[in-house]
Amino acid sequence: MAVEWKTVFMTVAVVCLCFVGIPIRVDKPIDTATQALFKDYVKRFNKSYENNETEYALRLRQFQESLEMIQKLNSERKSEASAHYGLTKFSDMSPHEFLHHHLYVGLQSRLMKCNHWRNRTHHSHERKERAIKPVSLPERVDWREKNVIGKIRNQKTCGACWAFSTVETAEAMYALKTGVLEEFSVQEMIDCAQNGNIGCAGGDTCSLLEWIVAKNISIELEKQYPLTLETQTCKLKGSGNGVHIAPNFTCDYLVGNEEEILLMLANHGPVIVAINALNWQNYLGGIIQFHCDGSPVHINHAVQIVGYDKSSAVPHYILRNSWGPDFGDKGYLYVAIGENLCGLATEVSSLDVL
Ligand SMILES: *[C@@H]1O[C@H](CO)[C@@H](O)[C@H](O)[C@H]1NC(C)=O
Ligand SMILES: *[C@@H]1O[C@H](CO)[C@@H](O)[C@H](O)[C@H]1NC(C)=O
Ligand SMILES: *[C@@H]1O[C@H](CO)[C@@H](O)[C@H](O)[C@H]1NC(C)=O
Ligand SMILES: *[C@@H]1O[C@H](CO)[C@@H](O)[C@H](O)[C@H]1NC(C)=O
Ligand SMILES: *[C@@H]1O[C@H](CO)[C@@H](O)[C@H](O)[C@H]1NC(C)=O
Repeated sequence: MAVEWKTVFMTVAVVCLCFVGIPIRVDKPIDTATQALFKDYVKRFNKSYENNETEYALRLRQFQESLEMIQKLNSERKSEASAHYGLTKFSDMSPHEFLHHHLYVGLQSRLMKCNHWRNRTHHSHERKERAIKPVSLPERVDWREKNVIGKIRNQKTCGACWAFSTVETAEAMYALKTGVLEEFSVQEMIDCAQNGNIGCAGGDTCSLLEWIVAKNISIELEKQYPLTLETQTCKLKGSGNGVHIAPNFTCDYLVGNEEEILLMLANHGPVIVAINALNWQNYLGGIIQFHCDGSPVHINHAVQIVGYDKSSAVPHYILRNSWGPDFGDKGYLYVAIGENLCGLATEVSSLDVL
């Protein structure tokens, strides 16, 4: 039974900064065991700084901090299902660098932008009540099994998570509608989206959707507007082969109301969420249940949710990330349902395509 999703416009919009963190600097002597471990790490992850003494020393220090963080996070695991942490391709980065690849945009000005956006939405939203019919939720939903979810992308150092997660959701809704799974252009969004979005330096899903609809933007096919991962001049062509987003997209603050996220996933399709990814740096797999602050000031990333599993020992969402298939569980992460973990209920978007 389908639920009617009425337009809920700009209930909340938190600018997704994609990469913002807090610098941490601790200088401690590094023991030989750590040095040996790091030597292996550099080989295993094919790091390019093996012969650069300066960078090697810097990375070693950051690696040591990651080891301490990994130990702390793993020591507080509650069950086999709990998230586990270990060495990833990001373990040689400082938390600051991890979330803040884009040094040309000042951290401070981006935080101010974030505050500005949050304020605006608190005062100007006109949330409409949604007609949620009481349906019994399936125990599990996984859109990957319906052939509407493409391969895991890699945003690398381009902070356009807001564009990746939105385009990926447009692809899924297009596939559900037409039966054809296409790749649409993330780069077009990076280059062209206005309304406060600034390409690889950051943006927000809801303001992107607002812009796409207001400007009647056609999202082109990936092959017509391929990914470069750099913010370039907008080259809108209007080929006619693109996809349009229906004006009735939704953007909701659903903290305390995660049942609505499950309903959307079960009855409509994948959703886009803003999220705090700071503690994901050394994530290997399992279900995140702790250490993922959900307060709005810590929102720094956006991902697609492609399903959930309530039948698991720890009921959880299935998150599709854009950090490559070599991160997490083949590119996916799992986060427990019900406590706004990582802030994932702060800004939840769903859409239809025309
Ligand atoms: C949104 O609008 C589109 C186009 O008019 C329509 O096909 C779709 O069913 C609508 N979605 C919802 C959830 O009402
Ligand atoms: C290792 O990195 C180099 C350059 O950094 C690259 O050319 C090479 O393909 C990589 N090898 C593997 C196995 O990833
Ligand atoms: C070595 O690494 C440092 C720090 O990352 C960098 O500034 C420098 O350019 C590198 N030197 C070479 C020769 O690559
Ligand atoms: C945000 O709103 C609060 C209270 O409504 C106000 O005091 C503050 O100046 C606003 N901040 C910005 C950046 O507009
Ligand atoms: C939006 O653009 C399409 C072509 O890309 C056109 O067919 C349609 O009429 C436009 N809609 C509006 C409301 O301008």
